[in-house]
Amino acid sequence: MSGKKLVASLAIIAVSIAAVNITPARAQTLTDGPQLARAKICMGCHQVDSRRVGPPFVAVADRYKAGGQPMVEYLANSIRHGGRGRWGAVPMPAQPQVTEEEATALAAWILSLASPAK
Ligand code: HEC
Repeated sequence: MSGKKLVASLAIIAVSIAAVNITPARAQTLTDGPQLARAKICMGCHQVDSRRVGPPFVAVADRYKAGGQPMVEYLANSIRHGGRGRWGAVPMPAQPQVTEEEATALAAWILSLASPAK
């Protein structure tokens, strides 16, 4: 991540914490999955390929990949609203700082992490 982008991400975090809302123009500067996941603090609880507080994103992708395109919407909804009981005892809190657009981008990225068919 370039210094400029990092500064932009930090600014967005600051704005979203302050307002629990970010403008679409700012959201569009964060289009890439890993960057968005870091900016939205997903990586505080998740890792791509190992368990942290939440399930590894690769495991999420493997569980839902067979569902195809509708799973993008399903996961985007899970990301925004959180949930419990699907992966263990610890619930995921709702993520109101994530817009619908961002949640869709994150869901698509997570699904793209599925391991190759065995
Ligand atoms: C406070 C910790 C925490 C944060 C922050 C967090 N998650 Fe989670 N996440 C969890 C836990 C715990 C679960 C498992 C919930 C369950 O068992 O249903 C989970 C589950 C998920 C799932 C699987 C949902 C399903 O339907 O199976 C996805 C996808 C996900 N998280 C993505 C994200 C993204 C993207 C972000 C950032 C916007 C994020 N998470 C932020 C803890 C967190």
